[in-house]
Amino acid sequence: MVLATSSTGAPLHPPTGTLLSLGHPGGGRLAPMSQVSFGARAPYALPPLPYGETELEPVISARTLGFHHGRHHQGYLTTLNRLLAGDPLGALPLVRVIRETAEDPARTAIFDNAAQVWNHSFYWYCLRRGGGGQPAGRLAALIDRSFGSFAAFQQRFAAAAMSQFGSGWAWLCEEGGRLLVLRTANAETPIAFAGINPLLTIDVWEHAYYLDYQNRRADHVNAVIGQLLNWQFAELNLPPENPAQPAMVAALPQTASPLAYFDPRVSPGATTGSYLSRLARRL
Ligand SMILES: [Fe+2]
Repeated sequence: MVLATSSTGAPLHPPTGTLLSLGHPGGGRLAPMSQVSFGARAPYALPPLPYGETELEPVISARTLGFHHGRHHQGYLTTLNRLLAGDPLGALPLVRVIRETAEDPARTAIFDNAAQVWNHSFYWYCLRRGGGGQPAGRLAALIDRSFGSFAAFQQRFAAAAMSQFGSGWAWLCEEGGRLLVLRTANAETPIAFAGINPLLTIDVWEHAYYLDYQNRRADHVNAVIGQLLNWQFAELNLPPENPAQPAMVAALPQTASPLAYFDPRVSPGATTGSYLSRLARRL
């Protein structure tokens, strides 16, 4: 395992904590979440991909994945760390940084880069070799109840990804026991809104697919939905059915695991109606 390091070469927050295996039947194995180096406070470290760069081929090439993770994700992280150097916001967990800056026009740059760091860290786990297909159990029931059928969900999710004008993201989220499909522009993210739990996302920035698909975003989106979506990860992001029994996610040491950044419940920071309104106008 390669530990992330700061620009000076010093190790950043070596990961510790409970192992969480997201193994899959395709023969490969996603790394335990706790092995993803991701600093609890700024300066944040780039989490390694939970699979090899070639493992998502042919849907996503190693070249695309290498640039996407090593240049784009790293770029957001580098900028964020620079912006937070000496800023009290840097003492907060990443989700709190996102929520504290979501409505602050003076801190748009911090919000954009923090949100993109979180969005990409989440996105990598939304994909897996041998993914796609349909979820089972509670998630399948929620999809049926919320959308009518899996086919109807799939159609709506694909439409959100394809209809996002310009750069952005398509999301499957949970809110109050029901699922919803959202699309957000640029860096905007449902994690900024307390009460919405992101389950899955697809990156529809051109950097996510242009080397492989050029302008054919629909081909990329359909291939990702059909072959790569990681339904195990989506199910992990569901809040517990019984709040008295914390989910595996909530039970993990929050400062030692990147799940602290994936789980909005650990950072119920303030987001107000105006952010939701801004987000909702884009749906
Ligand atoms: Fe991206």
